[in-house]
This record gives sequence, C-alpha cells and structure tokens, in this order.
Amino acid sequence: MYEIIQQLDKKRAAACLGGGQKRIEAQHGKGKLSARERIDLLLDEGSFEEWDMFKEHRCTDFGMAEQRTPGDGVVIGYGTINGRLVFVFSQDFTVFGGSLSETHAEKICKVMDQAMKVGAPVIGLNDSGGARIQEGMDSLAGYAEVFQRNVMASGVIPQISVIMGPCAGGAVYSPAMTDIIAMVKDSSYMFVTGPDVVKTVTHEVVTAEELGGAVTHTAKSGVAELAFDNDVEALLQIRRLMDFLPANNKEKPPVRPTADPADREDFSLDTLIPNNPNMPYDMKELITKVVDEGDFYEIAPDYARNIITGFARMEGSTIGIVANQPMVLAGCLDIDSSRKAARFVRFCDAFNIPVVTFVDVPGFLPGTTQEYGGIIKHGAKLLYAFAECTVPKVTVITRKAYGGAYDVMSSKHLRGDVNFAWPTAEIAVMGPKGAVEIIFRSDIGDTAKIAERTEEYRKKFANPFVAGARGFIDDVIMPHGTRRRICRSLAMLRDKKLENPWKKHGNIPL
Ligand code: HXC
Repeated sequence: MYEIIQQLDKKRAAACLGGGQKRIEAQHGKGKLSARERIDLLLDEGSFEEWDMFKEHRCTDFGMAEQRTPGDGVVIGYGTINGRLVFVFSQDFTVFGGSLSETHAEKICKVMDQAMKVGAPVIGLNDSGGARIQEGMDSLAGYAEVFQRNVMASGVIPQISVIMGPCAGGAVYSPAMTDIIAMVKDSSYMFVTGPDVVKTVTHEVVTAEELGGAVTHTAKSGVAELAFDNDVEALLQIRRLMDFLPANNKEKPPVRPTADPADREDFSLDTLIPNNPNMPYDMKELITKVVDEGDFYEIAPDYARNIITGFARMEGSTIGIVANQPMVLAGCLDIDSSRKAARFVRFCDAFNIPVVTFVDVPGFLPGTTQEYGGIIKHGAKLLYAFAECTVPKVTVITRKAYGGAYDVMSSKHLRGDVNFAWPTAEIAVMGPKGAVEIIFRSDIGDTAKIAERTEEYRKKFANPFVAGARGFIDDVIMPHGTRRRICRSLAMLRDKKLENPWKKHGNIPL
C-alpha cells in the first residue's frame, strides 16, 4: 500500500513539473509565472481541486507517441475566490508551448460543462502557441468545441479570460467570446495573423507588442478591457473583479457589508459643475464620491474614454455604472463609446446587475469619420442595449442631455425606472447656440440679436424643469444628496420584475 501511495506522489510530482524545470525557469525568465503558480495566486489558498492531471494526448504522428506529458499542457479544476466557487483552466506553456491538442481541448470543455451544470464562472488563463501543430485537424475540432461552449455559456455564467502569453490565430476567438479580457503588458499578445504574415501581405513592419499587445488592445482596438503590469497584479485584480459578479444569470450579485451610510451627503458635489457650460469636469469624481467607500472597478478605462463603465456597490450590492466623461471629447457619444457602453449594459442586464447612468452628453460626435464608420448602427447598439435592459435603471442627468443622446442614455422613455436631474441639467433637443442658428437663421450676422435669442433659448430649455413638467424627470435633486437618492431608488427596485416579449433573440444592429 505504502509503495502505491509513493507511486502516486511521484506521478503527481512529475505532472506538476509540466514540461520540466528548465522550461519553468525559462518561463520565469520571461517574467511569467507557471500555470500552477498562477492558479495558486488566483484562488483561495488550498482551495484548488485539480482534474485530469494524468490525461495525455493520443497523437502518434511526428514522434509524438514518445513525447507524452501528463496533463497535456493545461491545468484544470475548480476552487474558490473569497469563498465563492469558480472553475479555472490554466494553459501550461512549458508543455508544447501550451498548444491545444484534442485532449487539451477536452479538458477545457470538461470544466466549462461542469461550470454550466452548477452555475459558476469560468476563468481561463491563456498562454498558448495555438493549435497543436502535430495534431492538425483534431486540434481545430477541439477549438470549435470550446467556441460552441463559449457561446452557450454566454449570458449564463460569467466567462473571464486572462491573456498571459501568446494567443494567436483562431485561438483568439475563444477569449473574444468571453465577457471580459484582461491582458498582461509586455508578455501577452493577441492577433489573428502575426507580424511575419502581416509583413508578407501588407508590407507593414510591426512588433508583436505593437500589433496585439495589452496596450494596443485596451487603448486602440477595444478587444481587451483590462491591462496589468504583470501576472501577479493581473491575478489579484481578477480576484477583486469576481467579488462584484454573481455566479450565474439566476443569482443576484453578491452583497458585501459596508460601513458607508446610505444617506451620506457630499457637499463638494454642489460645486462640481463649472459655471461655464463649456468647461469640463471629471465625472469620475462624482462616481467615487457617490459609491460605497469610493470603490470603483473600471472596465475598459483606456478605451473610448469619453464614456466610463465599471462596477461599484451601493449599500453593499453591485451596480454597473455608465457615465459620460466631459473631460474627453466633451462627453460626446461616438462609435467606440457606444459599442463599449452597449456591451457593458448587456453584461449587467444578463447578470442582474442594476445600471446607474450619469449623463452629461452634448450629443453624437459629428464628422465623416463617424458617419462612414457607421455611427448610425453603432449608436443604435447603445440605444438597443438600454431599451432591452430589464434590470433596475437609475439615471442622473448632471448637465447636458441633448438630442438623440438624451434619449439613448437610459432615459425615461427607454424604461428608466428612476430618472433624476441636478438643477444644473440642460435637457433639450440641442444646445442653445446650435438651436438659435437654425431657427433664427435670418438673424445670423446680428451678433447682439443672436446673443439675445441664445439667452432666451437657454432660459427656456437649458434646465431640467421642462422635462420635469412632462414627468420625464422624476425629481430635480441636490447634488449633495445624490447617493441617498440613488440608494433609496435601488432599494425600492430590489424586487423589480420586468420581462421582454418572448422571442428567439432580438436582432441588435451588429
Ligand atoms: C506544437 C508548439 C506550438 C504549437 C509552440 N510549440 N507552439 N508545439 N504546436 N502550436 C512548442 C515549440 O516547438 C517549443 O517546443 C515550445 O513550444 C516553446 O516554443 P518556442 O517557439 O521555443 O517559444 P517562443 O520563442 O516563446 O515562441 C512562442 C510562439 C512560437 C510565438 C508561440 O512557438 C510559435 O510561433 N508557435 C507557433 C504558433 C502557431 O503558428 N500556431 C498555430 C496557429 S494556427 P520545445 O520542445 O522546443 O520547448 C491555429 C489555428 C487555430 O492556432 C484555429 C482555431 C479555429
């Protein structure tokens, strides 16, 4: 018996070494942790239950029969993050470059299937050279099996991808279908075709980092939402993120006890809005002053910075925040910000996270770049997302809410449950200057008259009371009481029930 146990220990120790000590050291040399070290950091200490440690590939071509490594390049199983169940797979670059074989894919599918059965999130730690080249077709089939599961799990359990090494070719499409992609700066990249192919086809010379590194994808393409400096920071931040999310689409988000009073007032908010309507201010100041303990987890902070999205808590319960940022492009909606916010709102809606929207939007960004780029379709995404969203929706208009952008930003007409405005709100079809130049076109050239007309228009419409008179605004509130009013609204909405008509699925303008 003792010998058998010893044998098991030996087998386990060998499997834990993956592709061997030398390759683990090479991994460390690149500033990367090993697949198992990553799991240890991600999960609560001692909580990891591993599956399929001894699973091996079945390939016999190209001398592969002699090269079998227990586990076949991916570590899978489940554990907890702050006591809450999550499933995880972590690709092991030390085994055939973490490449995906038929059996490697089967292991990933195994955790995804089980996660769906019990309703818990899946976190994928990606570090892979793509399809196992020796296997060819079998590995392609393996990818497709994973893709299909990604789609079935979408909107049912949260799926998080952390890219911690190469992720290229068709392999990028599994993370692409998950809810949030985090990347590690300088050691991870994602692209459909690498720098060499790019050079051959388009003659562009570009490094892997420039083409598909963390900065590229979180600031330029918007493919990834979060960029972190190293593996450790990435994994610790993913732990923090998971604390905001429910385990599945049937659960409410977790509640964390807070010492921050729901009726806390912040008088500095009364002077947040500058006297000059063209002056920007930082919307993040409002967010951090309103939410529990100022704790705001921003999603996609470096992409489309004219809109802010992220998670926070009110009275301990998770909320999703969408807010225009007057500091960037005056807070205008454009293609990128519409796409970013639409995706975020749909995530919140899928996972029962109430949406709080702070509005200061002068309109949609004009220009040929926007029109040729399809702002009509992309702007419609945000409109569609807010309109189909059935979770509690609380909206606060701080300053501008003009034109179509007013409608889009979780207005009363899109089933906003509680819509507040600050006294500084300006809710109208367009800004006073633009309006006067159209309806009093004959007066253009007479500066005094135009100024007089503009002031007249401003007085009449650049306030919250016209919308208030129609009931489109439920109340005009003092900025210092914003937290209290939102908390009360969310408490009132806690058991909100609203269902959209049955359909196979809608046809969001993609
Ligand atoms: C088998 C692979 C592999 C792969 C790497 N290795 N990628 N083995 N299949 N796809 C092995 C290497 O042979 C090497 O083995 C070890 O992993 C480490 O690789 P290195 O090249 O030494 O590492 P590095 O210099 O860091 O380069 C990493 C890399 C490079 C950029 C990922 O290995 C590479 O370009 N690999 C090929 C990528 C690729 O073309 N994949 C297929 C894409 S097509 P030893 O024994 O020396 O340690 C695809 C289709 C998917 O993925 C479609 C889905 C729909």
